[in-house]
Amino acid sequence: MIVPTARTVFGASAMLAASVLSTAGTVAAQANSPSGLTADTACNSNLCLNAIYDMSANRINYTMTTQQGGKQIGWYAVGTGSRMAGSDMMIGWVGTDGKPIMSQRTASGHRMPTTAITAQAAMPINARTFSNSTGTAWSWSSPVSSSSSLSPSAKTSFIWAVNGNSNPADDPSAAIREHTDYGVLNLDLTKAYTPPADGKAPPVTTTPATSNGQTGDASASSGGDGDEGSSKTYRLILAHLIFMTLAWMVVAPIAVLIGRYGRTTMKAWYPWHQNLQFGTLVLAIVGFGVIVYMVEDGGGGHFDNLHAKVGLSVFILAVLQGVLGITGHKTRRFNPIRIVHVVVGVVTMALAIWNVGLGYELWSEQHGTKASKYIIWGVGFGLFGGLWVLGLALLPKQLKTWKAEEQEKRGLPYQHDQPPAQYQDQQQHRRNRDDIRLLEKSQPPSLE
Ligand SMILES: *[C@@H]1O[C@H](CO)[C@@H](O)[C@H](O)[C@H]1NC(C)=O
Ligand SMILES: *[C@@H]1O[C@H](CO)[C@@H](O)[C@H](O)[C@H]1NC(C)=O
Repeated sequence: MIVPTARTVFGASAMLAASVLSTAGTVAAQANSPSGLTADTACNSNLCLNAIYDMSANRINYTMTTQQGGKQIGWYAVGTGSRMAGSDMMIGWVGTDGKPIMSQRTASGHRMPTTAITAQAAMPINARTFSNSTGTAWSWSSPVSSSSSLSPSAKTSFIWAVNGNSNPADDPSAAIREHTDYGVLNLDLTKAYTPPADGKAPPVTTTPATSNGQTGDASASSGGDGDEGSSKTYRLILAHLIFMTLAWMVVAPIAVLIGRYGRTTMKAWYPWHQNLQFGTLVLAIVGFGVIVYMVEDGGGGHFDNLHAKVGLSVFILAVLQGVLGITGHKTRRFNPIRIVHVVVGVVTMALAIWNVGLGYELWSEQHGTKASKYIIWGVGFGLFGGLWVLGLALLPKQLKTWKAEEQEKRGLPYQHDQPPAQYQDQQQHRRNRDDIRLLEKSQPPSLE
């Protein structure tokens, strides 16, 4: 359902919203407000969000403001919850005629929100919606539905996003270009609110309100706006992508394959394996640091999507794997640590390749490139995975060599079937040596 522009009339949505009102449930925000109303405002350098929560009506009246207006200024959005998926969003922009436009949307994930709305309809509040040289305010009233990702509390999270450069068309269902900056704002919806005595709504401020007790969460500030924020975010994500691709699609697979094939084909496979994996760890730490910084800088929630969660797991596993590898190297062959090292390695690699694919999917959603995750998975699972599995065919041969070596160490002759060629040579050599000794012993005393 599309919320019409602030200029149009909303008979139908008003009736729908009113019917929803009567069935709305109670929400457990503790308010000591005589009016039964609570409110808070939070700002960052891009926008402010004010929310007035009416517990008895189970509605929230929102006002989103920014400091420019009267002309096209890109788009601004807030949504319930701390992530895009399932969020009930309101996107505002200014039309070519200089008037505010609002569009209520939901997104099924980190992709372009559509106007196919699952949340209950919001009603624009025309009296508080304007755009002029003072700034722009988009105001609307929404029921608090039990299905939305919103539950008013002392820390009620709202995502926000902006693209100050891209102006959607005048139609509320127009396509929206991707955000250049985004994050999470936290509002304390337990703060008491007393409406002005004259019954009129308070004036709408378009600048961060810090003096009237309605300050926003300081952690919600953004790293920048417009071009600056955009290119900075872009560069950080690109750096993360490059470091992680190098780490998990180039260096780590080579090191793993050296671990698999090297022990039968290379003399000094272990230093190569260890040093390359050390490189993987360094690349992964840099890639991890870059993206954590980017999220922190943008005021976003950490590890709040699948890619980020899997990434955190891979990062922890990679550090653990380094410790296992180094301690395992100090143990004897077949020590459980070595076996755990191999198992954790396989799990880490599989998760890492899967997650690089997920990362490329996010990237392609945001930049319109196609199908790159299948290339990643094809190379990662198909090529590297395939080579590794093929390398397992070397295991029986390796086991024989190892057994032979172990027994050699204990000074026992090799007893099972045919020992490997190199060992046969050694055996032959020893036999020859023994024969010579025997010969020497059995030689008759010299006749002088
Ligand atoms: C919220 O907005 C609705 C619709 O404009 C209005 O009737 C109601 O009084 C507002 N509530 C508050 C607390 O401002
Ligand atoms: C812009 O509109 C708001 C709300 O209608 C009003 O309070 C403000 O004075 C206006 N500013 C200018 C410069 O017209």
